[in-house]
Amino acid sequence: EKDGYDWFMRKEIFEQPRAVADALLGRHDESGLLQLDEVRISDDELREIDKIIIIGCGTANYAGMVAKYAIEHWTRIPCEVELAHEFRYRDPILTRNTLVVAISQSGETADTLMAIRHAVKQRARVLAICNTNGSTIPRESDAVIYTHAGPEIGVASTKGFLTQLIACYLLGLYLAQVRGTKFGDEIAAVVRELSQMPAHLERVLGDAQRVYDLAERFKDAKSVLFLGRHAGFPVALEGALKLKELAYIHAEGFAAGELKHGPIALIDQGLPVFCVVPPRGRDQLHDKMISAIQEIRARGALTIVLAEEDDDEVLPYADLLIPLPTVPTLLQPVVATVPLQLFSCELATLMGHDVDQPRNLAKSVTVE
Ligand code: BG6
Repeated sequence: EKDGYDWFMRKEIFEQPRAVADALLGRHDESGLLQLDEVRISDDELREIDKIIIIGCGTANYAGMVAKYAIEHWTRIPCEVELAHEFRYRDPILTRNTLVVAISQSGETADTLMAIRHAVKQRARVLAICNTNGSTIPRESDAVIYTHAGPEIGVASTKGFLTQLIACYLLGLYLAQVRGTKFGDEIAAVVRELSQMPAHLERVLGDAQRVYDLAERFKDAKSVLFLGRHAGFPVALEGALKLKELAYIHAEGFAAGELKHGPIALIDQGLPVFCVVPPRGRDQLHDKMISAIQEIRARGALTIVLAEEDDDEVLPYADLLIPLPTVPTLLQPVVATVPLQLFSCELATLMGHDVDQPRNLAKSVTVE
């Protein structure tokens, strides 16, 4: 069942090209026009939506953070992201025209379930993004986009997360299509980029040994930081979460722009810092990230840089480099997350931990 892998988690990491392909399967026609048949909310109703609130816990919450960047950009609908357990207790403003998107791999997480029950009571519309057919959260929602990742056994989510990202992109593009905020050819162009993801992921996974060598080098690390910005910020948070969950090492993710407002004080000689560099493009994200890397390096950080494979500008500031395929900024989390999964899985293995069942954690937490 582990197909020769030592852990279910490692197997599931390597299944991601297939999982992502399955998540995309049948969701668009030849011309790139989207068809999401599980969305039982009419197009007219979707045109009325004036606010989106995305909720989830743990890794699912980070998928929601990525989704916010994409959905707001494509649809211009204001979009909030909130931890499911915080959402309900702050008396959120919900109307018939609020779309609550609940992200949950298991579909059974009590915090998320209670949050959607609250939303349903307030007459908001609820759409679930879920990996488990027939589980409670999709059953109690108005609509569902299944992620089709197949069963995920490892407690720490991997293919669950990547396919949640895909479902979020599909939802954003679908809303843009229905509401006419993007032209058909623009949507088709993003769909084309998405359909190349499985091939990109194969290449990232083909380079796993490079990441394993890194893990060997950091076995004794006491603390590791992760920096990103824009869609790379949730990737940094996810990288840190994986390291906490699996290797029990203190890890934190930061938005790179926030560094100078506090966290830079943590930088010390030899501190490992993973830096997720946005693709080069018309915006200034890439250059701002490079300045942040220069700043921390000048203060002694050891930089492990994830950047586009032909990004020469970043090379002088990278102590170690993990090359990524060239993809649009909003889609970069799909490829940038995978080396961080491999790193934590390998490091925890080297430390002798149970990767599939980390201490104190459960696959789905069914108590609030
Ligand atoms: C935690 C898991 O208990 O629940 C995480 O350890 C997961 O991996 C989180 O991200 C949310 O789970 P779900 O099933 O609602 O996506």
